[in-house]
Amino acid sequence: MFLSLVSALAFAAVLTDVSIADDTFNVQPFKIDLSSEVPHLLDLANKTRLPLKPLYPDAGLYKGIELDYLRKLQTALVGNFDWEAQQAALNEFNHYTVVIEGQTVHFVHQKSDDPDAIPLILLHGWPGSFYEFSPVIKPLTESWTSATGKNVSYHVVVPSLPGFVFSSPPPQNWTVDDDARIFNTLMSEVLGYSTFAVHGTDWGSVIGYSLYSTFTTTTRAAHFVFLPFFPPTAEEIAANNITLSEEQKVTLQRGTEWFSTGIAYFMEQENKPNDIGLALYDNPVGQLAWIGGLNERAEDPRAGTPPSVLNDTAFLTLVSLYYLTNTFHSSLWIYAQNPNGFRGTYTKANTDAPMLFSQFEYTNALWPQEYVAKVGNLVSYKFHDFGGHFAGLDNPPALIEDIREMGLYFDA
Ligand SMILES: *[C@@H]1O[C@H](CO)[C@@H](O)[C@H](O)[C@H]1NC(C)=O
Ligand SMILES: *[C@@H]1O[C@H](CO)[C@@H](O)[C@H](O)[C@H]1NC(C)=O
Ligand SMILES: *[C@@H]1O[C@H](CO)[C@@H](O)[C@H](O)[C@H]1NC(C)=O
Ligand SMILES: *[C@@H]1O[C@H](CO)[C@@H](O)[C@H](O)[C@H]1NC(C)=O
Ligand SMILES: *[C@@H]1O[C@H](CO)[C@@H](O)[C@H](O)[C@H]1NC(C)=O
Repeated sequence: MFLSLVSALAFAAVLTDVSIADDTFNVQPFKIDLSSEVPHLLDLANKTRLPLKPLYPDAGLYKGIELDYLRKLQTALVGNFDWEAQQAALNEFNHYTVVIEGQTVHFVHQKSDDPDAIPLILLHGWPGSFYEFSPVIKPLTESWTSATGKNVSYHVVVPSLPGFVFSSPPPQNWTVDDDARIFNTLMSEVLGYSTFAVHGTDWGSVIGYSLYSTFTTTTRAAHFVFLPFFPPTAEEIAANNITLSEEQKVTLQRGTEWFSTGIAYFMEQENKPNDIGLALYDNPVGQLAWIGGLNERAEDPRAGTPPSVLNDTAFLTLVSLYYLTNTFHSSLWIYAQNPNGFRGTYTKANTDAPMLFSQFEYTNALWPQEYVAKVGNLVSYKFHDFGGHFAGLDNPPALIEDIREMGLYFDA
């Protein structure tokens, strides 16, 4: 592997003493310490009043978050949530910050013991963060042997998107293509990985697809659970004579609901991120309400039971990371900054790198294989009847298995 002097220095800095002063990218080790913010969070959450009973008890999930669920989250947050334990668990990972193009970027870098491990970048979306990959990071660093005797392991890199949790908010004109460019720099120049694989979900799939289609010499395999192309409607699927399984019909039904009456949040965040961002800036229960209803409609109904670890504690951790870092507001801006981030017209990436796709039944969009094949060099399409939008939390074993499969196709 050829390393320029600059990247060799940066690489050495990451591996050894990260406090080297002349490091071009200023890589620094990082520990999460948000403990001093927690009393204010608990105090506000404790004082926030909710109605005693639902206004319309039969309104149901599809009119927004249900009061009983929100109250349960509030009660758990105030009385039964151990931030210190969550923080300690997150600090088990190796965290760093780096400055790329003036942006402070936080990332987890978990190296495999296997010198032949494949570099891998995992990209989250909204309302996610690096946290949603916690259950898969360490397993992916471990060696797995396929039925054909090939060993696969990964050096795992998980950045926080600019504007999310510990990464600084980008300039107003920043786009997902800028995210892709700085993440390509992170992998190839800061960490010295001349080629790598990418996994993306939600906005992370938009950024990951930008890497896959633009940085074709460095991005040598991609795995997605979401795409930057709007999923086809039921009518389009029927017009193309695509037959769906009963499980796929469940996903299509959820997607149809999401894209007809479920995208008010999307329009608000795209058009008026300051209204909702400032309204809920210092309102933890408000953030739980805004995000909790979305999560309720995009997770497996069995969430929190094995293999899902997406229980209330995990959800409170996800939202607390936004609240405690004061980045709920800045996280919303990715919608406003990328009005064409998701596209209506399918185009094929000009790359020979393999692409894999995993569809989880209870997420909020269905892409049949025929549609996924339009956008890349599709070598594997999987359907999982367990799990929703946060696959890393809602079905970690399936995500680990599918990302490992990517290693069988990876050809640096
Ligand atoms: C919540 O408020 C009640 C009533 O004022 C108080 O007794 C309790 O200690 C508070 N709990 C927290 C975690 O602040
Ligand atoms: C895979 O790893 C195992 C255990 O480390 C080793 O014995 C084996 O030789 C490896 N196989 C290949 C093809 O490298
Ligand atoms: C984006 O804004 C920054 C300042 O915030 C400016 O330096 C830069 O030139 C702008 N980029 C483009 C492409 O307009
Ligand atoms: C779908 O099937 C119908 C009836 O067999 C046929 O007329 C039509 O051309 C097919 N459409 C496509 C897009 O293949
Ligand atoms: C959620 O699961 C974790 C283990 O993944 C467990 O420690 C925690 O107690 C669970 N929380 C709830 C509310 O069940």
